[in-house]
Amino acid sequence: MSQALAMDATAVRPLEERVVLVVGAHGALGHASAQACADAGATVVLLGRKVPKLNRVHDAIVRAGGEALLYPLDLEGATPDDYAEMAERIGAELGRLDGVLHCAAHFGGLTPLENSDPADFARSIHVNLTARWWLTQACLPLLRATDDAAVVFAIDDAAGQGRAYWGAYGMAQSALSALVGTLHAELANSSVRVSGLAPGPMRTTLRSKAFVEDAEPQAREAAEVASSCVHLLSAAGVDRRGLVWNPSSV
Ligand SMILES: NC(=O)c1ccc[n+]([C@@H]2O[C@H](COP(=O)([O-])OP(=O)(O)OC[C@H]3O[C@@H](n4cnc5c(N)ncnc54)[C@H](OP(=O)(O)O)[C@@H]3O)[C@@H](O)[C@H]2O)c1
Repeated sequence: MSQALAMDATAVRPLEERVVLVVGAHGALGHASAQACADAGATVVLLGRKVPKLNRVHDAIVRAGGEALLYPLDLEGATPDDYAEMAERIGAELGRLDGVLHCAAHFGGLTPLENSDPADFARSIHVNLTARWWLTQACLPLLRATDDAAVVFAIDDAAGQGRAYWGAYGMAQSALSALVGTLHAELANSSVRVSGLAPGPMRTTLRSKAFVEDAEPQAREAAEVASSCVHLLSAAGVDRRGLVWNPSSV
């Protein structure tokens, strides 16, 4: 193949030959992004807690000509050892890992902090922040082993910033922005890029726990955001390295 043709192929399929782990792969953004990553040439590892839903995402990707593997896991109960085993299995079965996209999130609904359930507070911080970091930490050795890797965190930036009623979910969003900054600063001279994606309101199950659909006419479908996930995971995502990117504000 001539060099010009090879460059065109990379432009059309920017994740060709890459392996991307999508966390929360049967959620709205997770599913749409997993499909978009597969369409862009990646082999996608689909992590989620419900096997029948994961199977549906897997089958849709394969029907469209893509490659995907399932990794059922509940982030609420998973330990650092579970993430280490996951990374080991990805390395053993696929030989590499080029990207991690974090789309799993726990949100119980808008509640005054004073009335919030203590166990749900802990669950939110754990699933939305701690589990994301534990998983990322376990994947770093694999990610470091490739020439160009990316870790992308979906962040609900408007829910953070100390707004009333968003509770531990909102606090975790602020902490995720800090995580992007800290990790970026520490990995700035490595092959691992770190970015946040703040897509703004999307019509999903998570959003429906806060607002009725008609209340946010500007809300987008998750599928409209999927190409931004592909961008951040691909080599072109270097333009947003270390940033929390809101693609709708560009
Ligand atoms: N929707 C918005 O307006 C909006 C705006 C800005 C940012 N975001 C961010 O975008 C990302 C995707 O959200 P979404 O709107 O696509 O929500 P979604 O459709 O509700 O997807 C969230 C996913 O997280 C999974 N999840 C929850 N707890 C889990 C656990 N313990 N273990 C494994 N998976 C778990 C859910 O699984 P189940 O299906 O089993 O519950 C679901 O698949 C989130 O990070 C969110 O903060 C969303």
